[in-house]
Amino acid sequence: MSTTGRLDGKNVVLVVTGGIAAYKSCELVRRLGEDGAEVRVAMTRAATRFVGETTFAALSGQPVIVDLFADSRPEDMAHVRWAERADLLCVAPATADFLARMAHGIADDFASTLALAIRGPVMVAPAMEDDMYRHAATQRNLVQLAERGVHVVGPAVGELASGRSGPGRMVEPHELLAEASRLLQDGLPDPWLRGRRVLVTAGPTREPIDAVRYLGNRSSGRMGRAIAAEAARLGARTTLITGPSDLPVASNVHRFDVERAAEMSAATLAEALVADIVVMAAAVADFTPAEVAGEKIKKDDRQQISLELCRTVDILAQLGQRQPRPFLVGFAAETSQVRERGAAKMQAKGCDVLVANRVGADGGMGGEDNEVVVLDRWGGEHDFGPAPKARVATFLWKRLRQLLAVEGAGDRS
Ligand code: CTP
Repeated sequence: MSTTGRLDGKNVVLVVTGGIAAYKSCELVRRLGEDGAEVRVAMTRAATRFVGETTFAALSGQPVIVDLFADSRPEDMAHVRWAERADLLCVAPATADFLARMAHGIADDFASTLALAIRGPVMVAPAMEDDMYRHAATQRNLVQLAERGVHVVGPAVGELASGRSGPGRMVEPHELLAEASRLLQDGLPDPWLRGRRVLVTAGPTREPIDAVRYLGNRSSGRMGRAIAAEAARLGARTTLITGPSDLPVASNVHRFDVERAAEMSAATLAEALVADIVVMAAAVADFTPAEVAGEKIKKDDRQQISLELCRTVDILAQLGQRQPRPFLVGFAAETSQVRERGAAKMQAKGCDVLVANRVGADGGMGGEDNEVVVLDRWGGEHDFGPAPKARVATFLWKRLRQLLAVEGAGDRS
């Protein structure tokens, strides 16, 4: 097999438990292998009802273990050997039952014994019906596991085995691969935002002109999504208020969709009341049509037409005036004099940190990468990029951590 070599030398133990999503884990094994990792698969008895051991054995090139005592002499202690070698234990899919057993340290088969023996990083990808996921017992087990440092990925919201829709769908294999790679390369993130509530805004707004037209901008919502995903990864309870955008939102981020600037301000001003940190990455319209035509405006024989626009609420400036207020991070989209104009906006809007970025035809808004200057009200000035927006988000949270530590700010709890 040709490999990318990204995960060369890494040993992953995959525990597959009994859910319909087990078939998706075949893809995960294959892709981990393609990246160079050595994968060993342990299955619960129930999992073998969904996918055969032979499939995982063929995909991983390693024997699969189901029974604690079968096929091996007890002195082999396979669970101990596997646990010692593992750089990562990944449980995917993780049923409600298996999560409960993990939370309580029950070790009554090979997979659960392995989960108890492991000392390194552990990630779980819950997969179950929405009622089982919402059940207080499951929620308590997940909180308990997260508090022990287990990295919980998902579940996603979507169609479930029953045909119903809701939270409980296993996160897709490519996302699990990305999380696993990150854990293997960087280790578990320090969850320093745990206990804090983070609110992020993202994307453009659409201001309706008539029944079919709107005023918008080129924002994709990518930067805000990356900031929210990173906050959630660092342990924050994260809400994202986003304008129209087709890009996905991390499954552990609470998503709230809006369209117009007025909707974004209503939602943000309300949510910010309970937030410790607010990051305003959205490109909010400054002006909105004074009147919205109920029907499509006809061109008739006119050569020119004017649109009367009125100012929208400046959400960031309003939050800046609140007392008390959350720790406030603003953005400034500038086509020139990025630093100077950014500093002026930080002052004018009363925010703690301002991320100034150059926008224009060649990048920033709408693109994959961003180049920023992070300014703060204590006089700091840090440049980063151009880099993919996920890396800009990581940089921003590192910088915010330093500032929050010095100030002891951003913690209302
Ligand atoms: N912002 C906001 N509400 C608005 C407009 C902007 O909260 N109605 C926020 C943005 O989310 C961003 C910051 O203010 O965090 C700066 O936005 P930007 O578009 O760069 O600047 P404006 O304040 O709109 O000023 P100008 O368009 O004149 O540059």
